[in-house]
Amino acid sequence: MPKLGYDLQCPGSCSPVTQVIEETVMSQHPDAVKWNGRYQTDGHYRQQGTASQLLQDFAHLLPQNGVVLDAAAGVGVNALFVAQRSLHVVALDISEVGLQLLRQKAAELNVVVETAVFDLTYPYFPKNCVDAILNFRFLERAAFPAYRQALRPAGLLFFETFVHKEAGDTPTYLLEPGELHHAFADFEIVHSLETAVRGHRSGKMRPVAQLIARKPED
Ligand SMILES: C[S@@+](CC[C@H](N)C(=O)[O-])C[C@H]1O[C@@H](n2cnc3c(N)ncnc32)[C@H](O)[C@@H]1O
Repeated sequence: MPKLGYDLQCPGSCSPVTQVIEETVMSQHPDAVKWNGRYQTDGHYRQQGTASQLLQDFAHLLPQNGVVLDAAAGVGVNALFVAQRSLHVVALDISEVGLQLLRQKAAELNVVVETAVFDLTYPYFPKNCVDAILNFRFLERAAFPAYRQALRPAGLLFFETFVHKEAGDTPTYLLEPGELHHAFADFEIVHSLETAVRGHRSGKMRPVAQLIARKPED
């Protein structure tokens, strides 16, 4: 069985995390089908975009060195921004097409980004292994405990994704107002804001929640 996913090795006593999933099963996952199709059509265009404004504005908080995990990295505009700051970046996404474009761009820019096809619906990461986690324009609540576990004490979570604003059925990929802040209220909140950003595809302003939060020291 081909092994997909990432062996997140960390120094010390942590054991590596591995997702062992048959390649065909992963590529047939509905999210993989949807995003592979989108990136085949507009992946190059998306890569012309810039890193998240939130990440740019708070880039001074990134560590000088260490490991940064970009969860649901897509074509990698944020991962590449961080890799250009000489950080060790691990980009995870369910879309092999997105990650392929990311690897191509990294080679062009002469930076290193590790990539792995990874389903964040069932995440497990070793404890205290990464210095920062990026989660942009993606919501998988099942990943929250895994993020908490993976961050080292004082590690930073950079999170921005879309918020549900109207009454009615709420898609699971939208946050409720206040939900993100509440979910990490035990962290040190560096920045928390509900605002609007321009959607990549629609070009329209869309409500988002932003959070930058530091994991407490043990
Ligand atoms: C809107 S894009 C955001 C990409 C990138 N974070 C950004 O801000 O440009 C959402 C990403 O989530 C990924 N994704 C969707 N479901 C996933 C899953 N179950 N596990 C991992 N990644 C997933 C998609 O492939 C896509 O790249």
